[in-house]
Amino acid sequence: MAYESVRGMRDILPQDIGYWTLLEDKVREVARRFNYREIRVPLVEHTELFSRGIGEATDVVNKEMYTFPDKKGRSLTLRPEATASVVRAYVEHGLFTTEPFQKLFYIGPMFRYEKPQKGRSRQFHQYGVEAIGSLDPALDVEVINLAWELMDSLGLKGLSLRLNSIGCAADRKQYRQILRDYFAERIESMCEDCQRRYEENPLRILDCKNDLCQPHIKDAPGSAEHLCKSCADHFASVRQHLDRLGLSYTIDSRLVRGLDYYTRTVFELVSVDLGAKDELLGGGRYDGLVEMLGGPPTPGVGFAGGMERLILVLKERMQPHDTQRLDLFLATLGEEGRSLALDLARDLRRQGLSVDLDYRGRALRKQMTQANQLGARYLLVLGDDETASKKGKLKKMDSGVETEVILTVEEIERVIE
Ligand code: HAM
Repeated sequence: MAYESVRGMRDILPQDIGYWTLLEDKVREVARRFNYREIRVPLVEHTELFSRGIGEATDVVNKEMYTFPDKKGRSLTLRPEATASVVRAYVEHGLFTTEPFQKLFYIGPMFRYEKPQKGRSRQFHQYGVEAIGSLDPALDVEVINLAWELMDSLGLKGLSLRLNSIGCAADRKQYRQILRDYFAERIESMCEDCQRRYEENPLRILDCKNDLCQPHIKDAPGSAEHLCKSCADHFASVRQHLDRLGLSYTIDSRLVRGLDYYTRTVFELVSVDLGAKDELLGGGRYDGLVEMLGGPPTPGVGFAGGMERLILVLKERMQPHDTQRLDLFLATLGEEGRSLALDLARDLRRQGLSVDLDYRGRALRKQMTQANQLGARYLLVLGDDETASKKGKLKKMDSGVETEVILTVEEIERVIE
């Protein structure tokens, strides 16, 4: 019997790994530029952290969590996201006592029991940032700016930022009532989930993807039109900062995002290629979450993006070779050539170049094909002539141009770099 991976949980194979390491490197690099430090939190938490933090009425908590009892009967959950865990860590370790303002980032797997499809899986990966400890609208914009910089560093275009404010707890309470009034006459003809959401939290109706509900949602009142003075000022300031930095956005006053902890600013970055339904990343403020999870009143803002989705977009623009380049393939002819190749490979690798050679005794032509398949930047053939003369021809694979070199590490390095 052959085993298969669990549905919705995919292997990442070597032919794809270059995209993953490239993305991870870029996240780390951009986070460093913005002074965000990495945090690693466990994959498993007490279920209550998510049910309270994310909200009982959300799809994530209601339908999508992997929850199981441990051997002592305690309910544990595979993390469906990391914001609640990061805030738990912030509170648990009293990070606020030494430095209440923390700028953090993370990369790692998350778990949601969703219907697997393109860009949606049950074990998926997120990169994300959380800036905890300031209400400054410039910080909302820093977080958005970081997201744009990341996309920029990956050469991604055709993206658009949707922005909204859902206000403070009092605003949301009022907005919930406005939505209830609006949906009152329509809810009968909407899906069962929405009927439940209508009772539990009508904001969640706005996340509904069901075609049946779309015509009703389309004309629902927007949240940004019902903000208190302080939240309206905050939102205006966020927009001013975005304008000043030249970061474009469109206001979508029905964008509420699917998690209950959000307050004020919410945003999503969508790729035109992926279609507006599946956002590349999403985030916003969560000014009540730290306190809800037992810490002092502390605001926060952040976002997370799905790596699978971003890689789908990257794949359309980049070959796997572009993500992980082999610098040099040493093709060998005869025993002498092979000994020289083994020595050179050791020395060049020590200098930081990526070097490979044949280990299957293949004919020269086959070795050249292999160099091509590996996407090697340069090829060097080492046979009796090269061993005797201590000279060889470094061939640049994309142009076919050959450069004669003395076979020393320094000479080869000089040509390749
Ligand atoms: P979220 O919108 O639930 O927000 O997820 C963020 C991103 O994770 C989505 O935009 C999407 O790219 C990706 N994603 C979500 N579910 C899946 C899935 N099943 N398969 C593949 N990708 C998926 C959060 O998780 C918040 N914690 C974001 C945040 C951080 N807000 C403030 N700070």
